Amino acid sequence: MKINSKDRAKAQWDAADVPLLEVSDLKTWFEVKRGIFSRKAEQIRAVDGVTFSLMANETIGLVGESGCGKTTLGRTLLGLEAASGGSVFFRGEPLLTLSHRRMKAMRRRLQVVFQDPLSSLNPRMNVMDIVTEGLLQFRMLTDSREVHAKRLLREVGLDEEMIYRFPHEFSGGQRQRINVARAISLRPDLIICDEAVSALDVSIQAQVINLLLSLQQRHHLSYLFISHDLSVVSNIADRIAVMYLGRIVEIGKTIDIIEKPLHPYTRMLIAAIPVAGQKRVDQEMVTGETPSPAAPPNGCHFHPRCPEAMPVCRHAEPPEAWKNGHYVCCHMYRPNSG
Ligand SMILES: Nc1ncnc2c1ncn2[C@@H]1O[C@H](COP(=O)(O)OP(=O)(O)OP(=O)(O)O)[C@@H](O)[C@H]1O
Ligand SMILES: [Mg+2]
Repeated sequence: MKINSKDRAKAQWDAADVPLLEVSDLKTWFEVKRGIFSRKAEQIRAVDGVTFSLMANETIGLVGESGCGKTTLGRTLLGLEAASGGSVFFRGEPLLTLSHRRMKAMRRRLQVVFQDPLSSLNPRMNVMDIVTEGLLQFRMLTDSREVHAKRLLREVGLDEEMIYRFPHEFSGGQRQRINVARAISLRPDLIICDEAVSALDVSIQAQVINLLLSLQQRHHLSYLFISHDLSVVSNIADRIAVMYLGRIVEIGKTIDIIEKPLHPYTRMLIAAIPVAGQKRVDQEMVTGETPSPAAPPNGCHFHPRCPEAMPVCRHAEPPEAWKNGHYVCCHMYRPNSG
């Protein structure tokens, strides 16, 4: 097989053992007025100091309850929200300060699949136009649009004869496959999947996850897989990052997070996973509501809901502890204890 110069550049990057994506102390704050007549604005700290890195060919699952900032984090990485602070390096380039022209070129390598498969597809465009639009825009058509579209549909497990159909003629699962075809069309390095399977039936969810896994192998992709559902995430992620009120409170290998969770919040999320045919005895652990990101509690943000809160948690920021690549931010663990 002939290797073109772009593939060679990518292979060199992968060999470098440097993270594909490096996020440091990223903040995205929104300023909102309290009421129509109010002059005072309040800061919604949707993303409030997030740090993590993602390697080539790796999947990080990002989990947390509704409103904790997952989508805002994804949108900030895509340049759809302005960051309020911190840095993001993608393929070694500072994403937040790139020129408009350079950012446009980078966006080819950074794709997204959203939750609602229908609303993210233009109803007036047929599938061929949808999946080849980016190729046209980036001047990457090496053959007719028809040939490219048929290849992309085959890649996502759809019948190539469907290229002239319109989005409304497909089922939810098929539409999400079309979204995936569009996302891979530009040969990206990273796809951000924001609740990409959440609207689908469980059996269809599994099929789309299997598709994402096989495309990852074939195209050497990385995923940031965002979901509120820890059990779904555990089926696809190499590592899991747990987010609470704008911050990552724990990151580790999927097996460690599921079997040996350290943070009380992660334990709470795991306790909430329904187990078929079993009545959970620890269900009462899932208590309280997430506080507003406009007025996060002092000390550890999680302390008002934490069953293991100590007096120190109310006023002091929790320390960061690392052990064997497992990160946790909680007063129960000594900083850098391993
Ligand atoms: N454009 C905006 N202006 C003001 N506040 C916003 C904006 N976008 C998001 N927020 C707020 O930021 C916080 C995080 O929202 P975000 O959508 O990122 O959460 P999420 O974790 O994706 O939630 P979900 O699981 O429901 O999708 C929420 O309090 C939300 O109301
Ligand atoms: Mg969201």
